Amino acid sequence: MTLITSPESILDITTAAMQSTENERLKTLIISLTTHLHQFVLENQLTELEFEKALQFIVGIGQATGKNTNEVVLAADILGVSSLVSTINNLDLDGGSYAALLGPFWRKNAPLCAWGENISRSNLGGQPIEVRGCIYDEFKKPIAGAIVDVWHSSPVGFYENQDDQQVDMNLRGRFETNERGEFFFTSIRPAGYPVPTNGPCGELLRAQKRHPNRPAHIHFMISKPGYKVLITQVFDSTDTNLDSDPVFGVSKQLVGEYRTDAVSGVCQLNHSFVLQAGEMVFPAPPIP
Ligand code: BEZ
Ligand code: FE
Repeated sequence: MTLITSPESILDITTAAMQSTENERLKTLIISLTTHLHQFVLENQLTELEFEKALQFIVGIGQATGKNTNEVVLAADILGVSSLVSTINNLDLDGGSYAALLGPFWRKNAPLCAWGENISRSNLGGQPIEVRGCIYDEFKKPIAGAIVDVWHSSPVGFYENQDDQQVDMNLRGRFETNERGEFFFTSIRPAGYPVPTNGPCGELLRAQKRHPNRPAHIHFMISKPGYKVLITQVFDSTDTNLDSDPVFGVSKQLVGEYRTDAVSGVCQLNHSFVLQAGEMVFPAPPIP
């Protein structure tokens, strides 16, 4: 039996107790995580009070998670971890990425829509927007029959699930690409919005003097059997918060040109995406 002889010795004893884990990947991940956690505690000489606060934060993000919001996802987002996981898993041939974090507001089974259909189903006003693009494979070949699932906030920055003024599934829809790999939908131009700040994540942002406002964007989840599901967002190039996104989702590739047509006043966005070959696996929806 090995007993504690120093603070440092606890790590060896702990990881020794984990050696019989049958699942090799689980074993590697938990031992690595444990090692980093021990190093973190030692390096910072964590006090008992700080430890208690950290545990309260974790309990708090669980308790703040409910039907319409997922504070656990938000915590990963504001720490930059969601963006990091998304980026390392979706690097393209040039070392960039068309992917961005999922966020807490994707809902499964958004309405299947016809070509050009308007997904603004509540009377919210706002600037009309037309969104077009093409889905390609890595060799620039258009992909027909891909499903482009889109969701975005209202002109005042609320998702449908946060807002009594909007009908169920407003500003959400799924569109199929045509034989040239193109999609087209209409809606109203989304506004930037604050990430939820009424829970532990808001408290942390305030302590760090960080603003909560995401730059305006439209979310896309693009899928077709034989390709990796692409989860991404296209940001409004005119937004002043592009370089201070509280969840670190903005890359150069994902800044879109939201142009207002001088004659019709309609905003037009053209943005195309590349899918990588692979298995089509969908994420678990953060909210039902
Ligand atoms: C979103 O883009 O919907 C989002 C992402 C992270 C935190 C909050 C919202
Ligand atoms: Fe969003």
